[in-house]
Amino acid sequence: MDIEEIRKDFPILGTMRNGKYLAYLDSAATSQKPNAVIDAISDYYRNYNANIHRGLYDISMKATDAYVHSKELVSEMINAGSYRNIIYCRNTTEAINLAALTWAEEKIHEGDHILITKMEHHSNIVPWQLLVKRKKAVLDYVEVDDSFKVDMEDYAEKVSLGPKLVSFTHVSNVLGSINDAKKMTSMAHGNGAVVLVDGAQSVPHIKVDVEDIGCDFFAFSSHKMLGPAGIGVLYGKEEILEGIQPALGGGDMIRSVDFDESTWNELPWKFEAGTPNIEGGIGLGAAVEYLKKVGIENIRKHELDLTAYALKRFEEDKGITVYGIRSEGMESGNRAGVISFNIEGAHPHDTSTIFDSENIAIRAGHHCAMPLVNKVIGVPAVARMSFYLYNKEEEVDRVIEAVEKVRKVLRLGRKA
Ligand SMILES: Cc1ncc(COP(=O)(O)O)c(C=O)c1O
Repeated sequence: MDIEEIRKDFPILGTMRNGKYLAYLDSAATSQKPNAVIDAISDYYRNYNANIHRGLYDISMKATDAYVHSKELVSEMINAGSYRNIIYCRNTTEAINLAALTWAEEKIHEGDHILITKMEHHSNIVPWQLLVKRKKAVLDYVEVDDSFKVDMEDYAEKVSLGPKLVSFTHVSNVLGSINDAKKMTSMAHGNGAVVLVDGAQSVPHIKVDVEDIGCDFFAFSSHKMLGPAGIGVLYGKEEILEGIQPALGGGDMIRSVDFDESTWNELPWKFEAGTPNIEGGIGLGAAVEYLKKVGIENIRKHELDLTAYALKRFEEDKGITVYGIRSEGMESGNRAGVISFNIEGAHPHDTSTIFDSENIAIRAGHHCAMPLVNKVIGVPAVARMSFYLYNKEEEVDRVIEAVEKVRKVLRLGRKA
């Protein structure tokens, strides 16, 4: 992978502030977009903007083809079997909510248990809290162990109690830990549960094969994988999607409508009411093609190298605490390029603001995982840097220099 060549594809990475180029280290929040994606969206608006599935004229058919083709590309990328299993919605959050408002709305009853973990993003907590309130069901949590992984003993115990649904993140957006989704799914299935995997932080960075994982639902967002915002994916197994009712009604999701009742369109359209985010689908398709061209395995290797380098640099500094698997515990399959940390004596908001003065973008806060950050890690907030294919070691070096600036500005001593 030639990083300098890749960086040229991302116009924003060429921008400067105060003589410093942008070191964008917040791809876990949202990724930057290559020209291929920007151009695909612009091309749609300039040359074939029309509604899909409606017009019997050239540009409408072209738009329909491009939208469907993007689903074929997404399906191929995660080995979903068919584009029929790929439902477009706004983002991971809406994808999880959609599963809650369809499958879970029908299948979860009073007294049933739903099992999630203590390392979830709010989007994989709150929809289930809302559901268990509606249904008088019970929400249980699996512990996170001292090595920042799902506590598999606790998981085995809780899964054996027979929850109806198990839902967990593939990769933690705070800790960077990669969960063994295949093993967790098979254990859950062995106990009769349906499984949803939150892939918001995995699909952009590691090879994902939903058939191999075996999960029933899988959710992710376009904007974290070089695509536009406002479009996300809910993958569902065909037999499950066929057997449940849609949550939203309206145009395009129907086969026929009469005054008393209606029948539903075939998959995946049954779950996409109204005019969809056409340009979003087209942009996502372009993002998938771009990722395919670079190669997700190459991206993964590059991020692992960067993560190992950043951890090594951080570990040389006793005044920095890293919340996540360290160098010594790192194996090729257990850690992604997300590093949460704090500088002793500095609030992460100050760290982020001072980094910004060096044109370095990181995230600070609870990262939409308040229970994990506040209760499990036990701090009010953490700073987080996260890598993608366009980052380089030089940016990590700039972070190390910026740490010294934080200490200088805040008048902190440095620990030897
Ligand atoms: C693990 C995880 N799940 C879900 C989400 C929610 O993604 P979105 O805001 O695109 O719905 C995020 C976003 O940061 C995430 O990191």
